Amino acid sequence: MKKMINIAVLASGSGSNFEAIAKAVKRGYFKANLKLLMTDKENSFVRLRAKRFKVRDIFVNPKDFKTRRDFDRQIIKILRKEKIGLVALAGFMRIISPVFINAFRNKILNIHPAILPSFKGVDAITQAYDYGVRITGVSVHFVDQKMDHGPIILQEALGIDSNEKLKELEERIHKIEHRLYPKAIKLFVEKKLKVKGRKVFLLS
Ligand code: GAR
Repeated sequence: MKKMINIAVLASGSGSNFEAIAKAVKRGYFKANLKLLMTDKENSFVRLRAKRFKVRDIFVNPKDFKTRRDFDRQIIKILRKEKIGLVALAGFMRIISPVFINAFRNKILNIHPAILPSFKGVDAITQAYDYGVRITGVSVHFVDQKMDHGPIILQEALGIDSNEKLKELEERIHKIEHRLYPKAIKLFVEKKLKVKGRKVFLLS
């Protein structure tokens, strides 16, 4: 029997995307082991969600390391020990260093709540809302050296109504995220993604 891929989710906050991934695994939307949750925030809500789904959670304290690279080396060590084949960043609010990217080349995904390359970085939903764009959305992409930059796997757009409240927009964006991230992970797990330069080809 073919071995199932081991997934690690890295998150810093609420973890609603972690939960969407955990539910997708549970209902057999794709075949994979959700092996662990790793976080850089000791009191993050995502840890409680991990406990609820009986996923092992590991807190790595950035304060224990002199440099970002040292912190990333520790993360790599754990991921290798656990034989992780896919790293899903889900609101992991740290820039990851080249050592990490090189160790897991084309095996790290990220979700971003905007249509990249617009509105990179933190508070993307608010950035788009305040800018007054008519269209925004969600992107799932491979991670490369630059923030919110790597080859794009999936994007989904939505229109913004002038009367819409920020809170409503946030809710609609998160709803898309919770569907789009599992969809992108399924494509990865089923080996249906081929990366060539900036382009990602979806194999049938
Ligand atoms: C999500 O909206 C995700 O797209 C965003 O953080 C949120 C985490 O929510 N990520 C970024 O902005 C990355 N630049 P969650 O903790 O409920 O999954």
